[in-house]
Amino acid sequence: MAKTHVKMTVNGKEVEALVEPRTLLIHFIREELSLTGPHIGCETTHCGACTLDIDGKSVKSCTLFAVQADGADIRTIEGMAEADGSLHPLQEAFRQHHGLQCGFCTPGMITRAYRLLQENPNPTDEEIRMGIAGNLCRCTGYQNIVKAIRAAAEVMNGADAKEAAE
Ligand code: FES
Ligand code: FES
Repeated sequence: MAKTHVKMTVNGKEVEALVEPRTLLIHFIREELSLTGPHIGCETTHCGACTLDIDGKSVKSCTLFAVQADGADIRTIEGMAEADGSLHPLQEAFRQHHGLQCGFCTPGMITRAYRLLQENPNPTDEEIRMGIAGNLCRCTGYQNIVKAIRAAAEVMNGADAKEAAE
């Protein structure tokens, strides 16, 4: 099948490749770029394990072709920690509050939570639950994920307040 040239920014780096039009973005990200944090948990767009942050939106990358992401700015779980290795507050909070067990949903869950906290920096528990309704987890029962997102929001709001005061 004829390949199409695509160019996108992934975790701050420009990438270029030739892809078949039918290649799903999740396969491109995992197989071509070797970013294997985002996972595949279904074939019906329910689970959200494949969630990426694309141009400021949470997108299920199993439901987008790589060619549709031409020119996009993408963030995956691999791009969440700082360059010095320090964890994003969400990653830290998931660890502290036991918001993961098998870890399979976690990349998608954290990537979604990252965007949720941009959309709503101070969500109620109900808003968190609604906000991650596109992400399924088989292990945690969600309770600790909600706690972790709430805790991360507090840390992030605290950091913002500190920055504003400086
Ligand atoms: S793999 Fe399940 S929603 Fe994408
Ligand atoms: S931690 Fe196992 S699916 Fe969520």
